[in-house]
Amino acid sequence: MEIPSGVYDVLTDARTVIAGDRVQIPFELDRPTYEQVNKMLKEIGGRWDGRKSVRAHVFPFPVEGYMRACLATREFPSRYEQGWYPTPTRVVDEMLAHAGIREGMSVLEPSAGTGSIVGPAVECGAVVDCVEIDERRVRALREQGAARRIVRADFLDLDPLDWPHGYRRVLMNPPFSQAVQHVEHALGFLADGGTLVAVMPESVMWHSDRATVEFRELISLAEGTFAPLPDDSFAPSGTNVRTVLLVVNSEPGGPLPTHGWHRRQPRQLDLFALT
Ligand SMILES: C[S@@+](CC[C@H](N)C(=O)[O-])C[C@H]1O[C@@H](n2cnc3c(N)ncnc32)[C@H](O)[C@@H]1O
Repeated sequence: MEIPSGVYDVLTDARTVIAGDRVQIPFELDRPTYEQVNKMLKEIGGRWDGRKSVRAHVFPFPVEGYMRACLATREFPSRYEQGWYPTPTRVVDEMLAHAGIREGMSVLEPSAGTGSIVGPAVECGAVVDCVEIDERRVRALREQGAARRIVRADFLDLDPLDWPHGYRRVLMNPPFSQAVQHVEHALGFLADGGTLVAVMPESVMWHSDRATVEFRELISLAEGTFAPLPDDSFAPSGTNVRTVLLVVNSEPGGPLPTHGWHRRQPRQLDLFALT
């Protein structure tokens, strides 16, 4: 969506402070301009905090690089597009606690948004590659500068066999509307002995369609767990959707279709061809 010119002028005004998780406009705006600015900042995930000590729009993610990317193109992504709900810090912390990242560990974030998981994972010592479908979010990821590799693509179109190695960790908060497909596909990028940690909508626990039932069976075989997150976990990102945290480890030779499993398939087929 295009940034209206009046809003652009306000956001690029030298007095406007865009830092950390907030945008602060310390000067008077006429009513129509204020409403336009407020609308845009809310649309991209900000929330007005009127407390005297704050008086700013506060975001559930670091907004500076992201806003710079938006201003560079005079465009902003609506958070209602492509299921973009940045993972709130508390949820990221919980994911990282389960991930047990050690220095130099390879991590994939396959639906990376603007990097709410990527940044903290890199701070823990991970080497992160990521995928994101939306060009503007890719730009924000580049601005963030944390990931080793950023691939702009539809993750579901990527073939794990084009990757020479699996990742020790996959950390993800995929678009909720296709969460099962994304997580299943991500298993193909996980190294044997690795761990996948994914935020998923709570509906994955009870949906009775065949794909979800089979997914639950697979996770159960692999002794993975779905732990409910607090109901308001995603409130900072503007949604009350209930979520769970999936944690699953891949054992070599176990039931998960990991990267190693994919690599073993052609050999098995060749052997089959010889009989
Ligand atoms: C729920 S948001 C989470 C963003 C990010 N993981 C985070 O935690 O802040 C889902 C993200 O997936 C991206 N996305 C949607 N469909 C995708 C696809 N097929 N391939 C890659 N990324 C996709 C959206 O653009 C959005 O940024």
